[in-house]
Amino acid sequence: MKDMIHLKAPGNWINDPNGFIYYNGNYHLFYQHFPYAPRWGTMHWGHAVSKDLVNWEHKGIALFPTKYEDQNGCFSGSALEHDGHMYIYFTGVHYNKPDPDDIHLCLDDKFESSQLMMVSDDGFQFDNFNGKKLIIPPITDKKIGDRAHTRDPKVWRGKDAWYMVLGSKSETGNGKLLFFKSEDLSEWTMVNSVEKEGLGNMWECPDYFETEGGKVLLFSPMGFINDGKRYAEQSICMNVAFDEETCTMNLSGEYQFLDYGQDLYAPQSTLDEEGRRTVIAWMRMPEAVDGKWNGMFCIPRVVEVEDGHIYFRPHPNVGRQFCRRIESPQEAGKAGYRVSFDLKDGETVNIGGYKIFRKGDRICTDRSEVFCDCGNYRMQFFTPEVKEGYSLDVYVDDNLIEVFVNNGEYVISNIVYGLKKEIFAECMVEIFTIE
Ligand code: FRU
Repeated sequence: MKDMIHLKAPGNWINDPNGFIYYNGNYHLFYQHFPYAPRWGTMHWGHAVSKDLVNWEHKGIALFPTKYEDQNGCFSGSALEHDGHMYIYFTGVHYNKPDPDDIHLCLDDKFESSQLMMVSDDGFQFDNFNGKKLIIPPITDKKIGDRAHTRDPKVWRGKDAWYMVLGSKSETGNGKLLFFKSEDLSEWTMVNSVEKEGLGNMWECPDYFETEGGKVLLFSPMGFINDGKRYAEQSICMNVAFDEETCTMNLSGEYQFLDYGQDLYAPQSTLDEEGRRTVIAWMRMPEAVDGKWNGMFCIPRVVEVEDGHIYFRPHPNVGRQFCRRIESPQEAGKAGYRVSFDLKDGETVNIGGYKIFRKGDRICTDRSEVFCDCGNYRMQFFTPEVKEGYSLDVYVDDNLIEVFVNNGEYVISNIVYGLKKEIFAECMVEIFTIE
């Protein structure tokens, strides 16, 4: 099974990207997967590969529960390359109180989380029965972290050692990060932690990296926007300082959303073939498409920092695909199309029922005509005041619209349903599809 531009659930359910890596000439993207129904449940790692971040091939299931520690799920984690091998780090979940009516769920939040690793010789074979190693047992000291809610190891090479960050929550209900260090990728020692008030109550999927323009932390706090609408959990990013010796991280508290559409979640980054910091993320969908599949990924985005601003630009491999000029969306191929235009104040471009407009210095979107009647979801979105112009590149797929403002100064991405193949624009637009 193959996908182009956007990797989608091969059926049933997917959530977070996991183990995103360029390894031995292929991009590998694993992901949280429930293979039995289009809803969340006992987590497996699904697996897809690509030569170019554009064409994806599904490879089936890579990781599945086999041990006491991961009996109820192989939760999110990361991958790295060392001495030609692929090292995988993930969280194993064990339910202390499974729901007797639905063993894929747990009652009263009663579960424990351990951190496990596995080494694959080629990135295609995974020894689920004999290859898993427990590296960090459940945290039992509440002062350190939460026994249930400590997860999502991201591992990276520092100057003289390997480092791991885990997302957790503090005794007082703040989000928290735990830092570990290793000389050999297998024995891990906790070095430090950091927490902060006012940024949600549990920090999922932390990711730390250095770019030319500065050091960046991505994370996904739960309970971040508490207005009763979906989603309360949001992914944010910030400039940080990190000292390897002491694993001290300073969080200023000033943040940007990764994406102002509020559907994007659990981003994970890696370095691409050319050394660009590239991030991919889960696009949350309230309803399965045709009752069959739920969940897809955004197009990969290159992260750059300039003067403290964190940019998320469409990956050039994807951007350059959309080069055949067309007159109408009717002429577009299966992988969708791109619409490019400049917006004056007050102008609207209506893409199949999805409205994009400018109000002063903000770019705004409204999906109310192309969404399901499925609960308390937000319909209107807007960027902060833009500084670099009003130039938009909009990537349109059947169920996802990604609006890049000024080549990634800000992004608004929204899940949509029932988009029409037409455009009404109050300004000049150019439409491009794939050759
Ligand atoms: C984020 C998350 C992770 C966890 C995984 C479980 O969406 O909750 O923290 O590892 O999904 O599927």
